Amino acid sequence: MLYRGSLAAGVLALTLPSVYAAPSAPRHTKSSLLYVTSYEGDLSTLNFTTSTHGASTASLQSAATTTACGKYPSWLTKAGSTLYCLDEAWGSNNGSLVSFGISKDGALTKLSSVGTIGGPVSAVVYGEGGRGLAVADYGGSGFNTYNIANPSNIVPVQGDVFVLPHVGVNPARQEAPHPHQAILDPTGKFLFAPDLGSDLIHIFTFDPVTLKYSPATPLVVAPGSGPRHITFLTLPGGKTVLYLITELSNSIVGYNVNYKADGTLSFDQFYIGGTHGPSEAVPAGAGGGEILISPDNKFLTVSSRHEGSLTINNFDKTNSTKIPSDPLITFAIDQKSGNLTWVQKFAAGGMTPRHFSFNQDGTLLAAGLQDDARVVVISRDPATGVLKEFAAALHVPGMPNFVIFSDANSKGRSF
Ligand SMILES: *[C@@H]1O[C@H](CO)[C@@H](O)[C@H](O)[C@H]1NC(C)=O
Ligand SMILES: *[C@@H]1O[C@H](CO)[C@@H](O)[C@H](O)[C@H]1NC(C)=O
Ligand SMILES: *[C@@H]1O[C@H](CO)[C@@H](O)[C@H](O)[C@H]1NC(C)=O
Ligand SMILES: *[C@@H]1O[C@H](CO)[C@@H](O)[C@H](O)[C@H]1NC(C)=O
Repeated sequence: MLYRGSLAAGVLALTLPSVYAAPSAPRHTKSSLLYVTSYEGDLSTLNFTTSTHGASTASLQSAATTTACGKYPSWLTKAGSTLYCLDEAWGSNNGSLVSFGISKDGALTKLSSVGTIGGPVSAVVYGEGGRGLAVADYGGSGFNTYNIANPSNIVPVQGDVFVLPHVGVNPARQEAPHPHQAILDPTGKFLFAPDLGSDLIHIFTFDPVTLKYSPATPLVVAPGSGPRHITFLTLPGGKTVLYLITELSNSIVGYNVNYKADGTLSFDQFYIGGTHGPSEAVPAGAGGGEILISPDNKFLTVSSRHEGSLTINNFDKTNSTKIPSDPLITFAIDQKSGNLTWVQKFAAGGMTPRHFSFNQDGTLLAAGLQDDARVVVISRDPATGVLKEFAAALHVPGMPNFVIFSDANSKGRSF
């Protein structure tokens, strides 16, 4: 089955299909919060509400905003009741890491802030008791670590700027190392950092107490592919796999991760295919974006940017002009081998879905449309992995580039 376009879409509220309910049925309202970062915008909290009273309606509204993560907030990591925000600080030599306390009404209060190497774009919690935070710095070619035991007093631990031995296959994008993500493996013992400029994935071991890291042998990927993000999965049989999305060659690559007795790692590639799946070419100019596994571990979804390959109804219901959209592409994961089978291509809700995430039970997916100043929430069938329809959309000023649900936990892979 092909799901190429969207179904009806509305502005802030639209009617969702629902079973018949008597007119006297009580109103049931459920709400969940989302946190969003936006370049040249704010760090904001959105309120997604569904209300059932006869028919179901859903809405997305702004609940709180703060400018305290600087002008170019690029990424959020939630750890307990603290939200860590990175300011990519375009045009500056250094970025920053800012911690926020989260209050029940969604308001965010700045606790502490420290400098990073330039252009931070991704962070992950690591170390004993989650006392460390590792940061990948795209623009400044670096990797930073911090002690976050006290979120009100973040302490820098270590920082390195990588060096490129020679310019890569794509000189415009691979003129320097560009670490694009910091992520922990499922054993919690290795930090990984895909480096778009260097065509490799840095791997670090670390002391869980002092938080000091040391480089291990990196995973070298195809020249010119531009590794952007990875996600890990431990299959029911105990096998660990990792999936990589490459931004420059628009591939999804699957590797078996072998944990060797001597404490080192090795990798065997078992899957490679385009971001659109094995039977469809990727449009010229596309750039692979995010790659995430659904909370039930059964589906893999990727975003592709700069395509405008789909056409959807305008979110302004009074405007009959349709708008272009980039896609989200979903694959089913074979639970024995990790092999991927194409399931669906669905409109992301506009242009440049740099990031998206699932809610904890996998019934919703939220996407940030960086070049359309919009955040959308899409309903999803967790059993089939299929995205169903736009539940709600909201204009978010600037370039919304990252969105997470507050109810997801780190196992939901949203954080
Ligand atoms: C979200 O919206 C619901 C419904 O209007 C409201 O009851 C709730 O207080 C809102 N939450 C926040 C944090 O604004
Ligand atoms: C600022 O960036 C430079 C070079 O990228 C780096 O050496 C320095 O440590 C950074 N400052 C901070 C506070 O991280
Ligand atoms: C209708 O939508 C199109 C596409 O987004 C836009 O260019 C146009 O300005 C809109 N028209 C009105 C009247 O808002
Ligand atoms: C992986 O899945 C695809 C699509 O279902 C199938 O064509 C292919 O044979 C599978 N590969 C392996 C090694 O099982």
